[in-house]
Amino acid sequence: MCGILVYIGDRDPYEVICNGLKAVEYRGYDSVGVYAGKIFKKVGDVDSFLKNLDRNLSMPIIAHTRWATHGKVEDKNAHPHEYGDVILVHNGTVDLPPFPNLKSDTDSERIAAYLDNMEGSFLDRLKNLNLNGTYALVIFYKKDKDKLYFAKKDTPLIIGIGNNEMFLSSDIAAFIDYTTKYIRLEDGDYGYITKNEYKIYNKGMEVKREIKEYDKKQDAKKGNFPHFMLKEIHDQLELLPEIISQKIPEDVFDILKNNRIDVIAAGSSYNAGLFIKYLTNYDLSVYISSEYSYLMRNPEYLLAISQSGETLDTIKAVKLAKSKGAKIISITNYLGSTLASLSDFIIPLGVGIEKGVAATKTFFSTILVGYKLINKINIEKIRAAILEGMNKNVEVIDQDSKIFFLGKGINYPIALEGALKFKELVYCHAEGLPAGEMKHGPLSLFDKQAYVLFIKSEDSIYNYEEIKARGARVNLIDFSNEYSQISTLVYFQRLAYHNAVYRNQDPDKPRFLAKSVTVE
Ligand code: AGP
Repeated sequence: MCGILVYIGDRDPYEVICNGLKAVEYRGYDSVGVYAGKIFKKVGDVDSFLKNLDRNLSMPIIAHTRWATHGKVEDKNAHPHEYGDVILVHNGTVDLPPFPNLKSDTDSERIAAYLDNMEGSFLDRLKNLNLNGTYALVIFYKKDKDKLYFAKKDTPLIIGIGNNEMFLSSDIAAFIDYTTKYIRLEDGDYGYITKNEYKIYNKGMEVKREIKEYDKKQDAKKGNFPHFMLKEIHDQLELLPEIISQKIPEDVFDILKNNRIDVIAAGSSYNAGLFIKYLTNYDLSVYISSEYSYLMRNPEYLLAISQSGETLDTIKAVKLAKSKGAKIISITNYLGSTLASLSDFIIPLGVGIEKGVAATKTFFSTILVGYKLINKINIEKIRAAILEGMNKNVEVIDQDSKIFFLGKGINYPIALEGALKFKELVYCHAEGLPAGEMKHGPLSLFDKQAYVLFIKSEDSIYNYEEIKARGARVNLIDFSNEYSQISTLVYFQRLAYHNAVYRNQDPDKPRFLAKSVTVE
């Protein structure tokens, strides 16, 4: 869950670093580091790092934004790491024993030491790299100054191919201002880039990988919005025709309707999967990706939901099901993602890049897949439902409150999503519950300190009365249109956004989190 940006070429190094680091910052943002002739690294965000960065930089550039896994958030644990003749950046986690004279507490520096201690040419070392864990690695080897080496397993790494310039990054967004040609590396790939060429190997053999062209329409800009998240909430309205036009392959309609399907996903994507189950009433069993291996029963079909297509928990579950013969259907926003490459059928979300760490328009587009499956798409009514959610007043919720989001039936996954958005951005404990379940325990918490967002439905009214009787403050969510869940969703997104902004917290980059969770 880190961001990598690497460049060899003739451009101004400072400009490339600025653009690239800002683009990958969403992947991890507790520390930043660059090797460009010298190593500079510091705890903090990209903006403050860039302000203090020496402009006297040389090629090649290896830059990294960190999201801590091994070792605290401290300067010494930021990347790049240097050991002997090796300088590297790493995304992922590995198990390696310690080496003498390490300067950090990271697993990444151990990889540098391990590589430095190996014998043979650097390509041979990468061929023989036998690491237990996940990694995207980019390495500057001091004895080979015109090359940058790389190796990848289970976390994304992409080569950007320009004219007399090359990039390596965790995300196309890091180099999209310079080139639209890219190669998505596969697991086990290793090799090197120079200014003019790249070589990719796998198990000792040189391999060719398809060069793809990125569609620039997907480029993400904030425009006049103060934050990406607010822009992305509004995108739900702007992009509605585009979202609706995303086709579900004919075969997928039949498969989903007529078979028992395991659904796996994490976070918001899990909530969206649950929503689709309630909405369609299809025979779907929805699992949290990281729990799936304990419960799997050799499914014929697996539906994996992941906006990024890179969530490691989900990818691992997909690989497991695939190894048992399951056919994979995926819902994803990234057709070039690892998930897409593992899938037999893909349902695209088509909402362009989502930069805010909190899923908004991708969640919305995922639940619209449910409406498409049951042929309930009325664009005008959906637009009106979004506007209702946009227009309801949001209030600032006292930070000391015990916050509950309650809903029954199809409103339950929306309650879960409301609570997830709130805790993710506002840093307050919030719980999403099925309204009928609260009397089986949680009701004891519903005193004057409790603040309840209660999604009204005909069958939940008794629960509402039960809560009121205990003295809790209740915000009744009472949208009565045909797509009331969409109105409620938009309202909950805005509630979390405005409460975060009110507390001076950055809604685009909530603390401790990252957009694409590529570690276990
Ligand atoms: C949602 O707001 C979160 N950022 C998070 O729960 C996210 O949905 C989860 O990590 C799954 O991501 P994915 O859809 O890219 O797999």
